[in-house]
Amino acid sequence: MHDRNDWMDADLVATRDHGPDIRLFEIAPADGVMAYEPGSHINLAVDIDGQPDVRSYSLVGLPRRNIYRIAVKHVQPSRGGSAWLHNLLPGARLRITAPRNHFPLQHGAGSYLLIAGGIGITPLLGMAQVLKQRGADMRLLYAARRRRDLALVSEIEATLGEHASFFISEDGNRLDLQAALAGFPVDGDIYFCGPARMLQSLREAMTALGLPQSSLRFETFGSGGLKPEESFWVRIPRLGVEVMVPPGRSMLDALDAAGVEVMSECRRGECGLCTVDVVALEGEIDHRDVFLSDHQKRENSRICACVSRAVQGGLVIDTSWRAGQ
Ligand code: FES
Repeated sequence: MHDRNDWMDADLVATRDHGPDIRLFEIAPADGVMAYEPGSHINLAVDIDGQPDVRSYSLVGLPRRNIYRIAVKHVQPSRGGSAWLHNLLPGARLRITAPRNHFPLQHGAGSYLLIAGGIGITPLLGMAQVLKQRGADMRLLYAARRRRDLALVSEIEATLGEHASFFISEDGNRLDLQAALAGFPVDGDIYFCGPARMLQSLREAMTALGLPQSSLRFETFGSGGLKPEESFWVRIPRLGVEVMVPPGRSMLDALDAAGVEVMSECRRGECGLCTVDVVALEGEIDHRDVFLSDHQKRENSRICACVSRAVQGGLVIDTSWRAGQ
């Protein structure tokens, strides 16, 4: 019997490609699957440049008898986890945790609108399937820039039918969030998973239509930078430490590898736990989180180390600040 914090052995039993960049992984835990709610994720031990690390992946769809399913997009440049996973072959031995849920579906709302961007479909598919089974008033809007960025299309069509709509920008069918939200009841619940910039657009559309932000529940993934990734330096005078952060590696991981402990939880720029003070800045900060306010981002006095980066220079930081202080 496993606790949800335990690590356990698992086998990669099958993979299935969904277009050129997205692969579905079927993972069988050695001791059998544990029950989970939609929105749950598992942690997976990965190897990044010879260093052990951990990545979280949402579980796809409703629970199956013997396997967990995750879908992973091979992002370029990658923080390393997606590249490592895409190199695995069926039969590979993995280390995973039991499912945990930081993105639960709340039942009882009069209406539900689920909005997915790209690979953000993964936690929302199971939610949509549960809501449809329960006969809830529900719509899933699934948007992507290119057709190749859509995942799980046949499963969505087969299980959700007319409850799901697809929006593909390259086909001239871009999702107009304000039009999609028009007429949505103020007591309805909205669930979102996608890039941080799409979340910002959704929040603006909700504000414009008078929909309360309290009805929005979301997860993001931290690939939404405004600038291309490049190397930058980070200096901590209090500890006498300086590290270089290369493209494809987060500032949090680089600090951790240098023995600098920074607390973290979501590693997606949402919880703020990894936020550190910026004492001095050379160049600019590409803020990629959804935790700091627009005002705080303009001030450049703090940075979320898990997703945000410096460009054209580096940062002098202090690691003593904590979210909630
Ligand atoms: S760990 Fe949550 S914002 Fe960085």
